[in-house]
Amino acid sequence: MHRFLITLAAAGLNLLCVSSISLAADTPVERGAYLMNAVAACGNCHTPFGPQGPDMSKALSGRLMEDNAVWTVYASNITPDMETGIGGWSDAEIVRAIREGVRPDGSVIGPPMPIGLYRGMSDADAMALVAYLRSLPAVKNETPASVYRVPVPPSWGPPVGHVAAPDPADAVAYGGYLAGPVAHCVECHSSPGATGAPDVVNALGGGGLKFQGPWGESVAPNLTPLGLADWTDAEIATAVRSGVAKDGRKLLPPMGYGYYAHMSDSDMAAIIAYLRSLPEK
Ligand code: HEC
Ligand code: HEC
Repeated sequence: MHRFLITLAAAGLNLLCVSSISLAADTPVERGAYLMNAVAACGNCHTPFGPQGPDMSKALSGRLMEDNAVWTVYASNITPDMETGIGGWSDAEIVRAIREGVRPDGSVIGPPMPIGLYRGMSDADAMALVAYLRSLPAVKNETPASVYRVPVPPSWGPPVGHVAAPDPADAVAYGGYLAGPVAHCVECHSSPGATGAPDVVNALGGGGLKFQGPWGESVAPNLTPLGLADWTDAEIATAVRSGVAKDGRKLLPPMGYGYYAHMSDSDMAAIIAYLRSLPEK
């Protein structure tokens, strides 16, 4: 009897160790670091570019994103700098900025930050991003105010309230959560609607937005089962994480391949399960 209990206790201890290791990898700062650098890729817009691409020594300190007929847009400095960043904002104020697009002074954050999708980000993931942002070095970098030559939404909607993420065990639902409210794949890969803005109702159907830059022009392709009919799961994962298409072509910006390179196998699999579950469009 005694022996049996001891064996059980030892087994239990092992189980405890295993689960505490996976829990330990999930502190808010670590979860935030993972989301920021592998899935959400906020830095794809917010990190300045040097001659060699993103300048990670000034990560998330803001940059001139787009300067065209429609707008001159500066992605803000979101490091904890007190004067030029968001060091003086409370956690709740930062979460509100991300999910509701409202700054502490009440002004509305303009596009192309995908606030409409971020509204669906879970409380825990939004707080994890905030915890990670707070852990970063403050970088002094003043970003000018953006100039919009088109009407910007007066509001992104009512207060978000509480949001829970779907259970990761439900791969399709969790993959949809990652592809929408966290990684905004849906933003780029959806057909432009009547206003030219992505029509996320038609999510991922018929090909997506066009992007002009030093690379020329790139078009975000159709990711429904129609667009990816000939692609294996491994080929999709390679395109997303290495930026290499199934025919070997190096894929063009602005998709954040360098960030997605760090995406976990299970998150990648969940996103693929979600894409495979979509109606063909
Ligand atoms: C597609 C580009 C893009 C992405 C992706 C993006 N942002 Fe932004 N963000 C912007 C732009 C542009 C602004 C400034 C808009 C304006 O001037 O009104 C902004 C503003 C902000 C602000 C307001 C800061 C201030 O001082 O006014 C915060 C906070 C913020 N972003 C956080 C985030 C976080 C966190 C993420 C990732 C979850 C993220 N953003 C992803 C483009 C982006
Ligand atoms: C900022 C816009 C943007 C975001 C966000 C984005 N993509 Fe893309 N994606 C593109 C563009 C543009 C291309 C085409 C590049 C080219 O043709 O060289 C592309 C190409 C692809 C391809 C290759 C498909 C083909 O037919 O060649 C796949 C797969 C893909 N994206 C999946 C994703 C997934 C999954 C996510 C989210 C984790 C995502 N993308 C997020 C813009 C984006």
